[in-house]
Amino acid sequence: MNATLGIMSLTPETISSYYQGIGEKSIEYNIDLYLFSPHDISPTNEIVEGYYFDKEKVEWCKEAFEIPEFIYDRTFYTKDFTSKQAKAIVQWLKNKPEVAFLGYGLPDKWRQYQTLKGSPLSSYIVATELVESGEQLLEVLVKEKDLIMKPIDGAHGFAVYHLSITTDGIVVRTTKKSNVIHRPFKYKSAFIQWVDQLIKNHTFIVQKRLTNLTNNGRPFDLRVLLQKDQNGNWHTVERGIRLGAKDGILTNISAGSTVITVNKWKKELSHFQWDYIETELDEILELMPSLLEKEFAPLFEIGVDFIISEDNSLWILDMNSKPGRKLVQSLSPHKLDALYHAPLKYCEHLFTTRYSTIDRGDF
Ligand SMILES: Nc1ncnc2c1ncn2[C@@H]1O[C@H](COP(=O)(O)OP(=O)(O)O)[C@@H](O)[C@H]1O
Ligand SMILES: [Mg+2]
Repeated sequence: MNATLGIMSLTPETISSYYQGIGEKSIEYNIDLYLFSPHDISPTNEIVEGYYFDKEKVEWCKEAFEIPEFIYDRTFYTKDFTSKQAKAIVQWLKNKPEVAFLGYGLPDKWRQYQTLKGSPLSSYIVATELVESGEQLLEVLVKEKDLIMKPIDGAHGFAVYHLSITTDGIVVRTTKKSNVIHRPFKYKSAFIQWVDQLIKNHTFIVQKRLTNLTNNGRPFDLRVLLQKDQNGNWHTVERGIRLGAKDGILTNISAGSTVITVNKWKKELSHFQWDYIETELDEILELMPSLLEKEFAPLFEIGVDFIISEDNSLWILDMNSKPGRKLVQSLSPHKLDALYHAPLKYCEHLFTTRYSTIDRGDF
């Protein structure tokens, strides 16, 4: 019996090299592979109008099929109505007992923070507050002077604001189409008004801006990609440094950052105590995946952003359950084959575990 695995994306890209790669590797597995959007499921008969990976033609072909038993969720939502609808369908799928997701995703940044601040990883978590009003944010800004404000459900550096108090007053900076734009506020009341307006549509969190700048003012961070292997055990696939633009705010690759190997960076920034930092990093990575799965839900892969601050302190900044592959593409293209195999191997693992459990009569 073949397992059925569906890659789920809001815009099923049959031209994606990642999905094509998984498709080509699927030939070696007893897995029927599909690609579809949550919108492609008919609510009346639960038939999906999507794509099937034809192992003979080695390409995606249009097909109608039943909802696959396993789902690799690669959906990225926006604020629009279609996204909201898709989210509801995905939630409905997650609640279907006969369907298993490779990973169930992570909650928003605020819920992540609330859970992790009381965990063994608490000393690596940046103190964070929910932005409730312009006045409250002004109070925090007056105290801390240098802040980052970002949406609780943001991604790719979207709507990340750098707030600071300078001799000219309050300055808000953000990134639009890879350019940093400044907005000075002469009057506190104008700043308060601006914040109150902004938080009407999005929920924001605020935290200290960590000092992650190189000597020439480029922000950098350390990105780690973790995945489960064929036995369901976690391992690190890649580590790399992301280096943002001079005087920039973001280190997201989608915002134009470049990627450098950790070894090269260690030579470049040799004043850091790398042995100490890397020991801590290993300890965190050992703890983190199982902790997240215990607190939230099962996961298949995680992309973690770490900031290394100028005082050698290490901070867990952001955790993503739908990480990109650009780090591996740039630093270790020879690992791409393994990346294509990974969801198939893990699906096979889930499939065997599922059916061996049934065989044992555990249900
Ligand atoms: N507290 C902070 N201090 C310094 N830089 C930050 C801070 N928070 C975010 N950033 C910068 O903004 C980027 C995006 O923030 P992040 O929390 O990773 O959200 P996302 O990647 O989901 O948009 C980070 O990669 C980092 O470069
Ligand atoms: Mg991030």
